[in-house]
Amino acid sequence: MREPMMAGNWKMYKDPLEARELALEVVGRVGGVSGVNIVLCPPFVSLTAVAEAIEGSNISLGAQDVFWATEGAYTGEVSPKMLTACGCQYVIVGHSERRGRFGTWPGDWPRELLGVFGDNDVTVNWKARSALAADLTPIVCVGETIEERKAGATDAVVREQVTAALAGMSAEEVACVVFAYEPVWAIGTGEVCDAEEANRVLGLIRQLLAERVGDRAATMQILYGGSVKPDNIDGLMAQPEIDGGLVGGASLKADDFAALVEAALRSAGR
Ligand code: PGA
Repeated sequence: MREPMMAGNWKMYKDPLEARELALEVVGRVGGVSGVNIVLCPPFVSLTAVAEAIEGSNISLGAQDVFWATEGAYTGEVSPKMLTACGCQYVIVGHSERRGRFGTWPGDWPRELLGVFGDNDVTVNWKARSALAADLTPIVCVGETIEERKAGATDAVVREQVTAALAGMSAEEVACVVFAYEPVWAIGTGEVCDAEEANRVLGLIRQLLAERVGDRAATMQILYGGSVKPDNIDGLMAQPEIDGGLVGGASLKADDFAALVEAALRSAGR
């Protein structure tokens, strides 16, 4: 039986004071809920504020990115060890925005900025492995763009991203990875992926995991992300492969996020 998970990706929102406020609101609503892995992923600078706000609750802390070295001359980067020291148990790795695969390109940015955050299949693999080595659970994001979907390349893209993310990992390590299927065209657009189609792609991911870890793939949590909202969560959670959500916009409102957690809880034991 897999425990459902609801992870809030706050992206570049909430400075430390705002983050503390939102985290306290979330604690007030769902801090005592057990049976769902609830994870909040604020920006780096707000990790400590959120760690303090969720202390003693059932909510866990995650970061939105990580660098693979432990320390060194890497100006601007943050190591796995620094994240665990801030109280993190999770880290998002390879979000499409960090891979430079934006659903819509910010209008006034020149195309030379494409790939500005620099993540690719190789850095995602290094980041995920370094996270595991520091006892952080990587939430690895994969998913196709609208062009790739229209070209019928969804499965090939997902297969390639999943395989690359897991390169060089032992079966024990693979079994600790949480994947999030996030079709790029569904992120921040309000256009959620059809629940049955999301379930199908998650099934493909689980099949790829089974090739590495056998039966243990059935115990691994896999998430869907992309315009998850209170009004579509029940349909998603009703799908057998979908263990929860990686949520952007709706995680910034305590009421909406609490509604998502409650839906995940209702789905447990389905
Ligand atoms: P969204 O973002 O829920 O705002 O679509 C999801 C994500 O980017 O993880």
